[in-house]
Amino acid sequence: MKSKIVIFFLSFAGFLVPMPLIAQKTLPIIVGVEKPKAIIQSTMWGIFFEDINFAADGGIYAELVKNRSFEFAKPLMGWKILKPDTTSGILIINQSETNPGNPRYARVTLVEGEPSFGLSNAGFRGMGIKKGMTYHFSILARQLEGSTMKMRIELVNPLGKLIGTTNLTPESKAWGKCTVSFAASATEPKARLNIWFEGKGSIDIDMISLFPDDTWKKRPGGLRADLVQLLADLKPGFLRFPGGCIVEGRDLENRYQWKKTIGNIEDRHLIVNRWNTEFAHRLTPDYFQSFGMGFFEYFQLAEDIGAEPLPILNCGMACQFNTAEVVPLDQLDPYIEDALDLIEFANGSSDSRWGKMRARMGHPSPFNLKFIGIGNEQWGSQYIEHYAVFVKAIKEKYPDIKIVTGTGPSPSGKDFDYATKELKKLNAQIVDEHYYANPEWFLQNATRYDNYDRNSFKIFAGEYAAQSKFTCSPDNQNNWKCALSEAAFMTGLERNADVVYMCSYAPLFAHVDAWQWTPNLIWFDNLKSFGTANYYVQKMFSNNKGTEVLPMLMKNRPLTGQNGLFASAVFDKNVNEIILKLINSTEKDQTPNIILEGSKKLMPKAKIIVLKSENTNNANSLEQPAFISPVEQELIINGKIVSPILDPYSFTIVRIKVLK
Ligand code: AHR
Repeated sequence: MKSKIVIFFLSFAGFLVPMPLIAQKTLPIIVGVEKPKAIIQSTMWGIFFEDINFAADGGIYAELVKNRSFEFAKPLMGWKILKPDTTSGILIINQSETNPGNPRYARVTLVEGEPSFGLSNAGFRGMGIKKGMTYHFSILARQLEGSTMKMRIELVNPLGKLIGTTNLTPESKAWGKCTVSFAASATEPKARLNIWFEGKGSIDIDMISLFPDDTWKKRPGGLRADLVQLLADLKPGFLRFPGGCIVEGRDLENRYQWKKTIGNIEDRHLIVNRWNTEFAHRLTPDYFQSFGMGFFEYFQLAEDIGAEPLPILNCGMACQFNTAEVVPLDQLDPYIEDALDLIEFANGSSDSRWGKMRARMGHPSPFNLKFIGIGNEQWGSQYIEHYAVFVKAIKEKYPDIKIVTGTGPSPSGKDFDYATKELKKLNAQIVDEHYYANPEWFLQNATRYDNYDRNSFKIFAGEYAAQSKFTCSPDNQNNWKCALSEAAFMTGLERNADVVYMCSYAPLFAHVDAWQWTPNLIWFDNLKSFGTANYYVQKMFSNNKGTEVLPMLMKNRPLTGQNGLFASAVFDKNVNEIILKLINSTEKDQTPNIILEGSKKLMPKAKIIVLKSENTNNANSLEQPAFISPVEQELIINGKIVSPILDPYSFTIVRIKVLK
């Protein structure tokens, strides 16, 4: 009997979308178990890291002291003077001629007989302090002739109650690093650090720093372990860094320059963060880049979490939404040299100039860099011209490095069409596309690559996130509606893994009290962090990546919205498992009949992993971090037929073991 097709208005996440519904029997979905269509790259699902929303300073970089070196535009921003009514005081000294990397330091002078003088640091919207944890305090200091200055270091809660204290007396008359460690007696998300000076005379101070002991891998001066763990759990194929628009800078003066982010921590030249005043509705005047997490730490992080590094470099163009400054083609040499030197820093022997620097920083063996990106969201003919100069120079010296290029901020339109046309002519290798759009766009674009040119460049879906309101709206939510639409879109990326080589959600991190942009993959405060529903979508794809794409068809067509269903299938030859990914975007449950076609015997019990929420406005939060999170169950398979119940608004993964 023929099925009757009826047009219903199906509600997807609150919107009415016309969908053909099969009134009686669900059509079978056929998976060609023995007909792999494409290899899935190990880099398929990765991470985009940009220092936006306090992602680096105040985020993954575990330093607790803000403006530790008095280099912010206002030298005492983040600091409060305690007992300001004394004649004792603080002087900011600028030695930019002799020390351009770290020009300012402070001189504290105590007038004999006056009470102690203090400085109090606010941290990054407070300091997250944990009971029983050891904190490592350090300072660069020198006593001036005839001075005997002591320091009392305190952690206090917002009411001023002491939650940790120690003493430190720098002895030397020459600059030196003094350190002391002490334990905290209470947990406090918004603590402050007070430094009281006692004695007489003057002391010079700089690089005042406080780190918790429990950094990632316990590295001194390292990264926040909970945030790195969330990244590691993604099992990412690559780690893109440092952005994003931060690569470009608002102007070229403030572009990201990797050479200024390596070497001794105190010599890394702090600059303003371009997101500082980018959005009038989310001004963040205390946002600077200390580069405590610089390019060495980046390569090390990528290695730690098993991701291929993908650095993105400035191509001689500043942000085209801001100053749009362009370097003339005949003055591009320093920019190109930066790109070549970065490859040497990552891969060169420890005898080479930059390889030696890497070895000195603690990593004698190469980082095995394979990719480099030229420019972020650039557009127009200047970009194409600049890009071509970079490619020539890089390929001449490093023919095996794969080059990633951009297509601008939008995945369609005049500038996008121009870029893709020109990049095809130039035989570009991997091309970065960005998609910030509403959830409906993501559903509609699940087919985006089904008919893509197979004889051209590969795709890097380098930045994407569904926007519940509109791009740059401060009201965008990381809700289930957005996450589910991204999952639907990602089935299209996966199905086309012969074209799509790399994908990453953006942005990655946001501090709940200091963000500029929303939505984001991971949110945190000073003590806690959580993955959004979007994070779990990314994690489910990445942790169930597979090695080959399998055809999965209903009536000879991929599932791209029929009955509100989206789906893709892969095989993982490392563990001999078929992995099905199914999205039910409708308000009704559905039970598809999936036939695993082929001669292979299957284990009768499969594993299913379900991510769902009845209300598409739901979202995770610091209070309910796992409200929407994957749940595992078992599913019995009937011979070759798999019939999982797909709950309303759900993303289901089915893993079926193939028996030898
Ligand atoms: O992800 C936030 C910003 O969005 C990135 O910096 C930029 O590349 C894009 O416009």
